[in-house]
Amino acid sequence: MTSPASILGSQSPKLKSLPPLSLYVHIPWCLKKCPYCDFNSHAIRGEGSQAPEEEYVAALIRDLEFALQDVWGRRLSSVFFGGGTPSLFSAKAIDTILTAVRTLLPLEHFAEVTLEANPGTFETQKFADFRAAGINRLSIGIQSFNAQHLKAL
Ligand SMILES: C[S@@+](CC[C@H](N)C(=O)[O-])C[C@H]1O[C@@H](n2cnc3c(N)ncnc32)[C@H](O)[C@@H]1O
Ligand code: SF4
Repeated sequence: MTSPASILGSQSPKLKSLPPLSLYVHIPWCLKKCPYCDFNSHAIRGEGSQAPEEEYVAALIRDLEFALQDVWGRRLSSVFFGGGTPSLFSAKAIDTILTAVRTLLPLEHFAEVTLEANPGTFETQKFADFRAAGINRLSIGIQSFNAQHLKAL
């Protein structure tokens, strides 16, 4: 049987160690569902309701533990919290996830750790707490700077 190495021949890249990984963490809740959005995102049900933060964080950590067998020993060069609207989650929840990530996988010292945030869902103290938890980059979606267009959207 022809081995992959003999097919690739001298074209195959020579890696001294496995390259670092990027971890994507999906948080699928939003205040409202935008009609144009095709992503896996869901409105929090009912006025004053909250996303099931604790259960979801526990499930995410279990999922990472389960995936460890495939990525054991690999370094992480970035983490991206996407959504949905991850900035709806508390800084404590983000801290719990990042602590588990650091415990289970080597997170590079200068790793980029991003949180997707909707304008209006973060306040100064929460923002400072996200920073303390290890977030060092925000991704802010801007659909329009025009108030009428925003209303229409
Ligand atoms: C899925 S949202 C998540 C972050 C945040 N909830 C927000 O709305 O900015 C990320 C980006 O995807 C864009 N987006 C949503 N639905 C889209 C679609 N159907 N096609 C292209 N981009 C879309 C949003 O406008 C936003 O800039
Ligand atoms: S806030 Fe973002 S993720 Fe949520 S429904 Fe709107 S576009 Fe989609």
